[in-house]
Amino acid sequence: MLGNFSYSNPTKLYFGKDALHGLREELQNYGRNVLLVYGGGSIKKNGIYEQVVEILKAAGKDIYEDAGVMPNPTVEKLYEGCRRAREGNVDLILAVGGGSVCDYAKAVSVSAFCEKDPWEKYYLRMEDVDNKIIPVGCVLTMVGTGSEMNGGSVITNHQQKRKIGHVFGDHVFPKFSILNPVFTFTLPQYQMTAGFFDIMSHILEQYFSGEDDNTSDYIMEGLLRSLIYSSKIAIQDPTDYEARSNIMWTATWALNTLVAKGKTTDWMVHMIGQSIGAFTDATHGMTLSAVSIPYYRHILPYGLQKFKRYAVNVWNVTPDGKSDEEIAREGLERMEAYMREIGLVMSIRELGVTDEMLDGIAKGSFIMDGGYKVLSLDEIVAILKESMGEQQ
Ligand code: NZQ
Ligand code: ZN
Repeated sequence: MLGNFSYSNPTKLYFGKDALHGLREELQNYGRNVLLVYGGGSIKKNGIYEQVVEILKAAGKDIYEDAGVMPNPTVEKLYEGCRRAREGNVDLILAVGGGSVCDYAKAVSVSAFCEKDPWEKYYLRMEDVDNKIIPVGCVLTMVGTGSEMNGGSVITNHQQKRKIGHVFGDHVFPKFSILNPVFTFTLPQYQMTAGFFDIMSHILEQYFSGEDDNTSDYIMEGLLRSLIYSSKIAIQDPTDYEARSNIMWTATWALNTLVAKGKTTDWMVHMIGQSIGAFTDATHGMTLSAVSIPYYRHILPYGLQKFKRYAVNVWNVTPDGKSDEEIAREGLERMEAYMREIGLVMSIRELGVTDEMLDGIAKGSFIMDGGYKVLSLDEIVAILKESMGEQQ
């Protein structure tokens, strides 16, 4: 049965090859001072920076730059961004980049005028915003996180070895997002593939929970089928517009809050993945791919019917003459074969995890209770060891 919920998503999207025109329109709604936030320089190499700056100048904006947002943005960078935003008295934060830049922009938007320490308030204590929020707009250049249409904002504190996401309400969602699939063509293959699995993981985190038959499950199966189909094409030809545009759209729907409405969700793969990220600074999507198969094998007996449904409806496993468990396990085997085919990282060793880190990673993983099995610390360590190639 679907639970009760309210739903709204305030982010306005502009999608397609001409999507940047939307920026011109949107800029009319904000004051003069714009904080232009971006990463390590990819937008300067591929020409997106020039296009955005030209539009900002034509709109008569004063541009304050905040460059160098790193993948897995840090708390130190957040403090720096808050200073920049206050100094520039900015009316809009324009994030041009991937999930890291977009997440960071949201963190600055709620933190610049926060009187408490934002790391402690939002990330350790998970408190709501009670101060001025600077509006955020986004020009997306990397597909995967869904940050372009949600309130997620993940920040890493390397000193404390914690990587934590705060899921803010819709008052913190980007006001608008520009989605041009062509902007993603220059992504290195490793990042592109990591993004594909991030999308898949977002869907699975919401799919593998609850026993009910509801509309969200059917939507998610459709999103997964589209992703699997298009990602195989994109791996062969990263400039295939049809594939890349479908993937971009799928990523947004995978985590813009819609498919989670009225149902429970899991998120344990992300909790373990984020903890791995805190210890290694590894690429987000690869931290998820490396633990997913061991995790799902581990919880399969507790959610057998859903894993069976997944095998049949997503991976086209024929159920005839097989037990439920055989069907479910065949689904995971096909998923693993697909993951290897597109070149995902399957072992946390490859991400720099050492034996000494295992206990710390397990302790740093928030334990969620919405999935099919509430994990103990020993179970997390066992899953990590399995990813490292040790059979349990
Ligand atoms: O920094 P630059 O030079 O721009 O390079 C970036 C970066 O090195 C590069 N890149 C991005 N667009 C490019 C490009 N290179 C060439 N051409 C382009 N068009 O890609 C690298 C990775 O970018 P990043 O933004 O870090 O990747 P992603 O979009 O995967 O974001 C990861 C962050 O998002 C968080 C993750 O934890 C991680 O911190 N997440 C946010 C979520 C949310 N808001 O809901 C949910 C996710 O589960 C995730 O946790
Ligand atoms: Zn993710």
